[in-house]
Amino acid sequence: LVAFFQLKPLAGKRVLMTAGPTFEPLDPVRGITNSSSGKMGFALARACAEAGAQVTLVAGPCPQPTPRGVTRLDVVSALDMRNAVLAQMPGQDVFIAVAAVADYRPVQAADHKIKKTGAQLTIELTPNPDILAEVAALPNPPFCVGFAAESRDLATYAEGKRQAKKLSLVVGNLVQDGLGGDRNAVTLFDAAGAHPLPEADKLTVARGIVAHLAKLL
Ligand code: CTP
Ligand code: CA
Repeated sequence: LVAFFQLKPLAGKRVLMTAGPTFEPLDPVRGITNSSSGKMGFALARACAEAGAQVTLVAGPCPQPTPRGVTRLDVVSALDMRNAVLAQMPGQDVFIAVAAVADYRPVQAADHKIKKTGAQLTIELTPNPDILAEVAALPNPPFCVGFAAESRDLATYAEGKRQAKKLSLVVGNLVQDGLGGDRNAVTLFDAAGAHPLPEADKLTVARGIVAHLAKLL
């Protein structure tokens, strides 16, 4: 029994996650999005399932295959993602936000294709809700994990996000180290400080994040 729990450090835990980009429609054939392959989020979903967790993954549009044992809910926009997350929230022990959520969406999606006129076109954007901050501010929040992909000053921004959103753990990386590729180098920021993980393929990094998370739970 002891060996079982060491091998499956998330046994009995329910983990809700977001991954991939969101897509914010502008008209029926266009929209704005973030670049996100979904690789890190899907690797983490796999690592959580391997660790014995019951994993629900709310995924924005990305071509990653669903890891074995993971329940996947596909969404398109940030508002869809938020609604799916809140609907799945009751009973979750852990929430891990890996998605590259579009911070803004067009105020209105046109019903029909926007036609070119040759004149300048201005698109008005309105802020999307911060899904992770909203979950962390719930009356009885799960253990909340955020990601911070930064292009500079990683420690300042990542630790700043941890404190601003009241998170237990933030996984930080420099975009030049991870975006789109198969490998990543991350640093974990928690109340005790900064913990760099060795540079490795994304599944190995994901397993390292799970091991750290399991210790904190
Ligand atoms: N996040 C979220 N909902 C949003 C925006 C971000 O759940 N609308 C989550 C991301 O999934 C990630 C964390 O918040 O886990 C940090 O996202 P990031 O884009 O790095 O930070 P922001 O708070 O949006 O700040 P900025 O983009 O200005 O750096
Ligand atoms: Ca953002």
